[in-house]
Amino acid sequence: MKLFLDTAVYEEIEEAVGWGVIDGVTTNPTLIAKAGHDHEEQVKRICQIIGNVSAEVVSEKRDDMIVEGRRLASWHRNVIVKVPMTPDGLAAGKVLAVEGTRVNVTLCFSVNQALLSAAIGAYIVSPFAGRLDDINEDGMKVVADIVAAYRQQEIKTLVLAASMRNPMHVTQAALAGADIATLPFSVLKQMFNHPLTEAGQKRFLDDYRKTQEAKPAAAPAKR
Ligand code: G3P
Repeated sequence: MKLFLDTAVYEEIEEAVGWGVIDGVTTNPTLIAKAGHDHEEQVKRICQIIGNVSAEVVSEKRDDMIVEGRRLASWHRNVIVKVPMTPDGLAAGKVLAVEGTRVNVTLCFSVNQALLSAAIGAYIVSPFAGRLDDINEDGMKVVADIVAAYRQQEIKTLVLAASMRNPMHVTQAALAGADIATLPFSVLKQMFNHPLTEAGQKRFLDDYRKTQEAKPAAAPAKR
């Protein structure tokens, strides 16, 4: 399972790219607004340091979404165009996909919606697990069911588990067979943590320092 970062904050992306653990970024209008930058400028900047950058259309009608999607795709070859899971969104996504643009269908909450996304040739479908949990439904079960249906039907669309709220979601997405999980920066950082790693590393370094302190002082250099 590939890990993407679910943010439009450049500094977070830069740091995670430095760790070598992420393969892409997902943005949406909310995340762009939070980052407080111009959409085009920010997406282009992110595309300079990482591939697979999802940028979302904000039009509501099919034809407007097609025009907007083409514009987003023209910004950089790394852009994946996100369209909403609506009739207009899928109709626009179909045209864009046929043209060769990689399309990510967002706001997916069911297996049937994932089947519709696959039918238009979407490159990615994004089920939002956390938002299903929010309404007392089992978000990760929906992710697992979409993966199972896609495998059964030999569908190539990639399943991207989104709305990941905690490290357990990430583990569950991997066990469910998701191709990608997109994570807030805070969740990515939490994945590093284990008390035994921290304790073990402290002990290794303490023991190393002790051996250094125990070394006899170097003899003075001969003239
Ligand atoms: O990519 C967007 C998705 O991950 C949303 O997450 O936490 O706003 O439901 P959230």
